[in-house]
Amino acid sequence: MTRKPSLSSLSINAGAPTPKDGSPFRHGPEFASTFHLSGDVDPEAYQYGRFGQPTWTSLETGLREMEGGDTVIFPSGMSAASAILTSLVKPGDTILLPNDGYAPVRYYAEQYLVKFGVKLKTIATQDIDDFSFENIDIALLETPSNPMLNTFDITKAAQKLHQHGGLLAIDNTTLTFLGQQPLSLGADISMSADTKAVNGHSDVVFGHVSTKDKALSDKIREWRKYSGNIPGPMETWLVHRSLATLDVRLQRMCDTALLLAQELSQHEKVVSVRYPGLESDPSYFIAKQQQTLFGFIISFELANKTVADKFLKACELVYEATSFGGVHSMAERRARWGTDNIPEGVIRFSVGCERAEDLIRDVKAALSKL
Ligand SMILES: Cc1ncc(COP(=O)(O)O)c(C=O)c1O
Repeated sequence: MTRKPSLSSLSINAGAPTPKDGSPFRHGPEFASTFHLSGDVDPEAYQYGRFGQPTWTSLETGLREMEGGDTVIFPSGMSAASAILTSLVKPGDTILLPNDGYAPVRYYAEQYLVKFGVKLKTIATQDIDDFSFENIDIALLETPSNPMLNTFDITKAAQKLHQHGGLLAIDNTTLTFLGQQPLSLGADISMSADTKAVNGHSDVVFGHVSTKDKALSDKIREWRKYSGNIPGPMETWLVHRSLATLDVRLQRMCDTALLLAQELSQHEKVVSVRYPGLESDPSYFIAKQQQTLFGFIISFELANKTVADKFLKACELVYEATSFGGVHSMAERRARWGTDNIPEGVIRFSVGCERAEDLIRDVKAALSKL
């Protein structure tokens, strides 16, 4: 084969051992708190379970191939985000976060960084393309943002930040590395809550951080070692196992999401729809140029809280839950948390792997009961 296979095809065996006669295609999880270590410490050897271990190495090798940069895994998306914000920032630095992104990241910065002299600035994702980034040391931004799916140009933002010596980190959770490649687009760091589509089965909380810059990954890995924010081998293995089916899951989810978004945008009971794959959506232009998938999340507005709650109860195939990226479709009335500045009737809908015709029929039946 002369041409390198696509990332999608590579994702199936990424980080798996090279096949050998008589050996399995996959290793199981390795459970070890410590390793035999005699004499002087060998820096290349596994030493102690908090420093490194073989199941981590396998997944980090696979994710490095997917992201195009050294990868450090974490026990949650929040620990991945806090690793970036804590290990790379010093007192006096200014962090930029989206005011319409995942709210707990802002909460973490407000509660645990500002008191140590870090300055926090926030911005609406739709204003990022026109922002100068002057005096920003590190920006941790989302595109498409969760929950309203606004986008910005990663390459343009990275160039502006680099002119001022700042760093750009992208939270790529809503698309994954198969839907968008932040490091190739010029970002310094790509992070993800693998709790969502990467694991995809709603049974593991997980995260990772990737970067091409060895000095940054050294700092992030050291933070994991000394903060003790380490993933367990079982969770690590489950995420690695899920990586092999990520592409096929995403293809089904994103294809169905486009069909469902089209149906919703024509429905009389739906006030408005946000889906970056709709040509009429404000995110479409940038999504088309920098994403390889339009995603599996749709945010749409129903008349009010009561109508939205009624819709969720009327769906039979869709589980009401606060997450996204699972094999099963799930949805929630996002304003119930009180953390996002959005109308009460907004539903964040995560399209799963059900057959498109079944899911669309279920959603239309639920809408007809409103
Ligand atoms: C965009 C985004 N980033 C980070 C996180 C945090 O991930 P976790 O729940 O695994 O800590 C989430 C969780 O919903 C998220 O949606």
